[in-house]
Amino acid sequence: MPVLDIQTATATYPVHIGPGALAHLLPVLNTLSGPNSMAVIVTSPEIDRLWGSAVRDMLPHPTHTLLIPAGEQHKRLATLETLCEQLATLGADRDALLIALGGGVVGDITGFLAAIYMRGLRFLQIPTTLLAQVDSSVGGKTGVNLGAGKNLVGSFHQPVAVLADTNTLSTLPRRELRAGLQESVKSAILGDADLFKYMEGNIDVILAGDPVALAHVVEASIRVKAAIVAEDEFETGVRATLNLGHTLGHAVEAATGYTTLLHGEAIGWGMIAALHLAQTRSAIPTEDAVRIAQLIQRTTSLPPFNATADQLVALTARDKKKRSGVLKFILPTGIGSTEIVRDVTEGELHAAAAFMLAAMLQTLPHATAVPA
Ligand code: GLY
Repeated sequence: MPVLDIQTATATYPVHIGPGALAHLLPVLNTLSGPNSMAVIVTSPEIDRLWGSAVRDMLPHPTHTLLIPAGEQHKRLATLETLCEQLATLGADRDALLIALGGGVVGDITGFLAAIYMRGLRFLQIPTTLLAQVDSSVGGKTGVNLGAGKNLVGSFHQPVAVLADTNTLSTLPRRELRAGLQESVKSAILGDADLFKYMEGNIDVILAGDPVALAHVVEASIRVKAAIVAEDEFETGVRATLNLGHTLGHAVEAATGYTTLLHGEAIGWGMIAALHLAQTRSAIPTEDAVRIAQLIQRTTSLPPFNATADQLVALTARDKKKRSGVLKFILPTGIGSTEIVRDVTEGELHAAAAFMLAAMLQTLPHATAVPA
């Protein structure tokens, strides 16, 4: 079973990938230095029902389970405050180990909880969604949303280990599996043309949930991310490319109250918009743009939503990638390459958002629809 080491400026930790990776929990815990006073699992009721006992049964320490409601709309400071109070009531001290068992919301909240409770605890990620396995559980970004936008409060706090057990994907609703694949399409565009080809050639088995195919996609996606965070843990440079599709994708999520679309679906739409912008700048060969748009479409049926281009552009003003008033935008420039640009105008953003909305109305988003 593959084990990748994530090496950042502040931490090195293993990511165990594949069917049965969960069985590595105890050996991983045994490698941790320092005492463990208690283990606290943070999860949602649904994931607790499916996988909670399997994790608890492996833990040698006194174990507690804290439940948080599922859904992006609960990734808020209020949930975090409740968890802090619960940890204090349990008597959790700095030697407690937090275990995030669930998808991206659980992982991001638990990581942030670990970053701030008593000024910092260790935490371990057990991602149970494809999106969390291929992206959010690795790299140490943690945080919560504000009404004003996504992940506006948070911290970089690396986990001590990640167990990406692809068996947990067997209980994942199909829609979530498909949505999570958009982050793998993103990884492939960023830096792995072979992964892109693999997804093109094997999309049916991947969508059918074939464990071998999924394990390959998860491993290859994490490799792309590992290389990027090794170079730039705190997103001062190349890590921003992991936000491909996220500028307008986050705007779509904010415009729809985080309830209509899954994160991966919004990112799929955001990548369609970014692809259009790249095409209008002739920054990407048409053949690559067509292949990318087709893979996005074949991977996920992107659901419609209500928003206007004006509204979406206004929401991008709150983007974290904006520094000193300048937005960093990630342009796909080929299959396996992207570029960070800082000169995207409001007009270009508006045109990209309008293209995305028109594509949504036709439910036929494809790159060749760019006007000459
Ligand atoms: N999900 C983007 C990043 O980790 O940087």
